[in-house]
Amino acid sequence: MAKILVTGGTGYIGSHTVVELQKVGFDVVIVDNLSNSSIDVLNGIEKITGIRPAFENIDCVDYVSMDRMFEKYKGIDAIIHFAASKAVGESVEKPLLYYRNNLVSLINLLQLMPIHKVKNFVFSSSCTVYGQPDVLPVTESAPIKPALSPYGNTKQISEEIIRDTIHANPCYQSTILRYFNPIGAHPSAEIGELPSGVPNNLLPFVTQTARGLRKQLLIFGDDYNTPDGSCVRDYINVVDLAKAHVIAVQRMLNKRAKAHVETFNLGTGRGLSVLEIIKTFEKVNGVSIPYKIVDRREGDIEKVWADPSYANNELGWTATETVEDTLRSAWVWEQKLANRVKAE
Ligand code: NAD
Ligand code: UD1
Repeated sequence: MAKILVTGGTGYIGSHTVVELQKVGFDVVIVDNLSNSSIDVLNGIEKITGIRPAFENIDCVDYVSMDRMFEKYKGIDAIIHFAASKAVGESVEKPLLYYRNNLVSLINLLQLMPIHKVKNFVFSSSCTVYGQPDVLPVTESAPIKPALSPYGNTKQISEEIIRDTIHANPCYQSTILRYFNPIGAHPSAEIGELPSGVPNNLLPFVTQTARGLRKQLLIFGDDYNTPDGSCVRDYINVVDLAKAHVIAVQRMLNKRAKAHVETFNLGTGRGLSVLEIIKTFEKVNGVSIPYKIVDRREGDIEKVWADPSYANNELGWTATETVEDTLRSAWVWEQKLANRVKAE
């Protein structure tokens, strides 16, 4: 079976993707420097699939170590590149950390691909490249708007670097996946989102507030031009998202891609407001989330949701999990984390 390198494979989306890759028989090698994840994630993956993936604690920025890793695991067929720094606020404060980590990692991998005869590359991009789209739902052909943060800029630049590199070396191919807002955890609750420190994203904040770790959730603005005034996003189940990576890899390995670089939106096609997420979370889990409306967060997009029809039709992939089940999975995972802390 084909061998897949997963950078950032102990992270949130990476770990769920490793599970789905192993489930269909792929041989997985994880490279992660554990800067935003824990080695314990390997136990969770092993519990779900019965297979402990090969793991290397390497920084993708370190070209020499990455070169050695490719030598050690000869015959890698495809790379899924998740490894990146992703906190928007931090990227504003420490732009060079973001440009260095996200861009040098990518350049190293693209340089090492021909040396080690790896032909296929999947990249984690983001709907952040669209900024506030003029037309909703947003399609892949929508214009790329000026980035609102260094993090967002690294995604735009990365996409360009990939296109230029593959254009110059057309025997290689790449799939760029633009994620909307991934949420939830594996239904087994063996893996999930593990934010370090104060979470940046909505869902970990919601679950930590429900657990009592945080006094209240701050809702960033209720005066937007949306039905209830709070921002609207396309929240997608993380396992649904993970499955799309398996299909993207299979499509490239089976030579079914229609272009050397293909780009897909990965979303549900449905926009939900912050208030709708909170109300639904409270209803399905029977817990209450104390919240307070505060000022808008700088740089926030008012509303964005995907037109996923290109991914639906071309990849034969559709997000199937309901938001109710997804929010249940997030709460089960948070409670499991709470029990772990108690046991320690
Ligand atoms: P995450 O932080 O949970 O996972 C990223 C992993 O990469 C972590 O395990 C971290 O330790 C590792 N890593 C970071 N820099 C590294 C380096 N230089 N070398 C080796 N390992 C490194 O994040 P995630 O939510 O799983 O995101 C995965 C990818 O998807 C990222 O590229 C992110 O920008 C992108 N993305 C995420 C979201 C989201 O909402 N989570 C949305 C759009 C795009
Ligand atoms: C953010 C990033 C995006 C990145 C994504 C994944 C911005 C502008 N965008 O997306 O580039 O790809 O994270 O890391 O930062 N919210 C609250 N209270 C909170 C937290 C969030 O009301 O405590 C609201 C936000 O205003 C937003 C929604 O919840 O409307 C979702 O926020 P978040 O999870 O941070 O994701 P995005 O802002 O969509």
